[in-house]
Amino acid sequence: MDKVRKAVFPIGGLGTRFLPATKAMPKEMLPIVDRPLIQYAVDEAREAGIEQFIFVTSRGKSLIEDHFDHSFELEEMMERRGKSLDALVDTRFAPGDIAIVRQQEPLGLGHAVWCARRLVGDEPFAVLLPDDLMIGQPGCLKQMVEAYARVGGNLLCAEEVPHDRTNKYGIITPGAADGTLTEVRGLVEKPAPAEAPSNLAVIGRYILQPAIMDILAQQEEGAGGEIQLTDAMTHLIGRQPFHGVTFAGTRYDCGDKHGFVSATIAVALSRPDMASAVRDCLAGA
Ligand code: UTP
Repeated sequence: MDKVRKAVFPIGGLGTRFLPATKAMPKEMLPIVDRPLIQYAVDEAREAGIEQFIFVTSRGKSLIEDHFDHSFELEEMMERRGKSLDALVDTRFAPGDIAIVRQQEPLGLGHAVWCARRLVGDEPFAVLLPDDLMIGQPGCLKQMVEAYARVGGNLLCAEEVPHDRTNKYGIITPGAADGTLTEVRGLVEKPAPAEAPSNLAVIGRYILQPAIMDILAQQEEGAGGEIQLTDAMTHLIGRQPFHGVTFAGTRYDCGDKHGFVSATIAVALSRPDMASAVRDCLAGA
């Protein structure tokens, strides 16, 4: 079985739910405490053994490229002043390990993934949506890579959501379950609660076989007039193994303001350098 070496980060979206903060700054650069959202997803991918990081960006996202580049002036100045560069270690990559491709128009998540097809080539790959901040040990993608070593094929990250919220997610039609793995028999995009086949939602981590690119190439429009990744995956079900992996950990939907603030508080409370001050602050609120 081929190792999962490449990860695609689709970050071509507009981030309208965070306006005006995201008018000039990409949503993925919003910080949770002192790391931008994109850094959490990249760290998670590194921990899972990913070697090549493919960002599918759009106009106005060049700050993300800068974030993962050397900042010569800053580093030189800090060194001269005797300041530690430790905080920058995770932003560094060997030349060639990061690739950037532009999605010229925001035609949907499926389209963004398809934009990476030439860089992905003929091998399995991971997809990480940085909006979903996954806190757990080991990290979410590592848990999925471990499951992939057992079952191969295509994997989705699955999470049980409240029944009245199925219309916000892609929902799994479940087959046999074995521990954290659930066979995926079908996928329905944003079903009304009464029509949902389960409350197992697809969240922003995937391991996919390259065959998905041929399906995405047909550029079929789905919900909202966008090219949906869920629709393309539906075509692979039954042709290739397809499983959902339930993540042992906590997900924060940072594409949403409530989730973003919750993540900020949770991360702050997990940090020994600030937990007690933040707890006092919350207690006084
Ligand atoms: P969202 O549905 O959160 O959309 O995209 P968005 O544009 O980022 O944010 P809002 O809803 O306007 O606030 C889910 C993921 O798919 C990516 C986004 O960047 C995000 O990671 N995406 C979406 C693309 O890369 N391209 C697209 O055309 C659409």
